[in-house]
Amino acid sequence: MKLGILISGRGSNMVALVDAVAAGEILDSQVAVVISDRSDAAGLEKARERGIETVVIERNGRIREEHDTEIIGALKDRGIELVCLAGYMRLLSPGFIQAFANKIVNIHPSLLPAFPGLDAQRQAFEAGVKVTGCTVHFVDELLDHGPSILQCEVERFGDDTVETLSARILEQEHKLYVEAVRQIVLNSESTRNN
Ligand code: GRF
Repeated sequence: MKLGILISGRGSNMVALVDAVAAGEILDSQVAVVISDRSDAAGLEKARERGIETVVIERNGRIREEHDTEIIGALKDRGIELVCLAGYMRLLSPGFIQAFANKIVNIHPSLLPAFPGLDAQRQAFEAGVKVTGCTVHFVDELLDHGPSILQCEVERFGDDTVETLSARILEQEHKLYVEAVRQIVLNSESTRNN
């Protein structure tokens, strides 16, 4: 399965997926492209170092649909079959969702539906929850919304700060995203073979 990963920043989840594919943890798959909407995304260099093609497609004042059309084109040109959002900071247009129906996944640092949106770890921290975590889900037209694929709980300790809690969630994100994509690839193969 050909994977395309969309990033806007640091790219640690992208790196987790790329490294897992390279290590043979996600069989029969290939990360064919990493696309960023920001030319200064730190993840771009990390992808290049790993020999992955990178493409920068900035919004440049265009409306969302036009920007998304260019991204869809870049993904389709490369035969991408699964789109993984990894810290991609834009809401996808309905046209994007339809172009890759049930083929777009996202990782979010909370137990959705709790705490969607920005700064989910801080939201959970400030709400005083004892347990938070992360979610991999299929993407629909709403923010951090769509059928959940896998979730992982992370306990909040008494001496946690937002930073220590976020770091422990991020560690789990990397494992959860790899496992979710591994399962999606496996399931699509068994569907194809039946
Ligand atoms: C992660 O916490 C992810 O769950 C959220 O954005 C952050 C991206 O981090 N959607 P990175 O770019 O993968 O390091």
